[in-house]
Amino acid sequence: MSSAHPDLDFKPEMPQRLDHGIGIVGAGGVVNYAHLPAYTQAGFKVVAITDKDRTRAEKTAAEHKVPAVYDSLEELLADPEVEIVDIAVYPWETLNIGEQAVRAGKHILCQKPLSDEYSKAARLVAMAREAGLKMAVNQQMRWTVAIRGSRQLLTQGWLGTPTYGTIQVHCQTNWSMWPWMYARKRLEVLNHSIHYIDSLRYLFGEPDRVFTSGSRMPGEPTEAETRTLSIWEYDSGLQVLIDVNHGVWQDDRYATFRFEGTEGIIKGTIGLMYNYPAGRPDTLEFMSKKSMGYWFSARNDYLWIPDAFMGPMGSLMRAIEDGFEALTSGSDNLKTLQVVFAEYRSIEERRAVSPREVVA
Ligand SMILES: NC(=O)c1ccc[n+]([C@@H]2O[C@H](COP(=O)([O-])OP(=O)(O)OC[C@H]3O[C@@H](n4cnc5c(N)ncnc54)[C@H](O)[C@@H]3O)[C@@H](O)[C@H]2O)c1
Repeated sequence: MSSAHPDLDFKPEMPQRLDHGIGIVGAGGVVNYAHLPAYTQAGFKVVAITDKDRTRAEKTAAEHKVPAVYDSLEELLADPEVEIVDIAVYPWETLNIGEQAVRAGKHILCQKPLSDEYSKAARLVAMAREAGLKMAVNQQMRWTVAIRGSRQLLTQGWLGTPTYGTIQVHCQTNWSMWPWMYARKRLEVLNHSIHYIDSLRYLFGEPDRVFTSGSRMPGEPTEAETRTLSIWEYDSGLQVLIDVNHGVWQDDRYATFRFEGTEGIIKGTIGLMYNYPAGRPDTLEFMSKKSMGYWFSARNDYLWIPDAFMGPMGSLMRAIEDGFEALTSGSDNLKTLQVVFAEYRSIEERRAVSPREVVA
């Protein structure tokens, strides 16, 4: 704690060079409303795009001024200008594309979830590491005001010893944006709460045990879980609660977080979840034992979509430049996936599960 007030900086660290060539695989929703607007804002250089549906790739290229559209992944990988392959397809397609990209000597940024199976994710991470290539995963919530601000407060010592953390999101999710997701057996934890899991790990480290209950709204036309309640236990005594319901039918929706410690409390809102994908800025408030009753408030126009999407790509570029690992590297993401699959095991076996039980 260097001063009487927290010192927060929400700007993502940028690479030294902006001319790393990016080749995008997948021209779907998230690439159009998040990746490309963020890269344009950051000044990153997108050189090519491919999609198995060529018309989508062409439309995206025209709208975002991407110079080359390729018919196939092979053609995109053969382009020497492509240094980083940005993979934004369905989770069960990522491994195959990632492996081909690594074989072609490219660094990779993969969308979350890195895979729908832990062992497949571990295989890709090992392959990239053995090839000496950098890999990162799009867990961009770490670059939101809520999480980046909270992490800085924690590392600056304002919270003291963490005792409690919660993220509670009760919203109405429009699953028609992701019909492929709604049709599968695993939904909420793998595709949505994975952001909260990754962020809570970033703040508090690995939980020792997790217990999760999964459910859905009565009559919902899916076999998957759309409501989850997860409790994490740490041997230190720290407790975490993740409470998510995507099926709220009335207007009283909320997306809040609260992190408590021996010296301070942080609380706020996750703006994106009030109005996806437009969203609104996060709020973050903080009170310290040193100034009881006085709430420090951070306001910022920075948005999850698209602004936070500069973070994972910028971090990957920095890793390529300096040889360290990206903040959301592949190997770090395996720990997020261990918690994800521990939560599924907990739902299925109705018991507390250690993430260490999840192995390749
Ligand atoms: N980080 C986030 O916050 C966030 C948000 C939304 C989606 N996502 C993830 O991004 C990925 C894409 O989601 P979306 O919403 O854009 O889906 P989408 O259905 O809108 O688009 C997917 C695109 O990938 C293309 N595609 C699929 N397989 C392909 C292949 N083998 N080769 C080339 N193209 C292929 C499809 O034709 C489609 O255009 C998913 O993994 C999803 O989980 C992440």
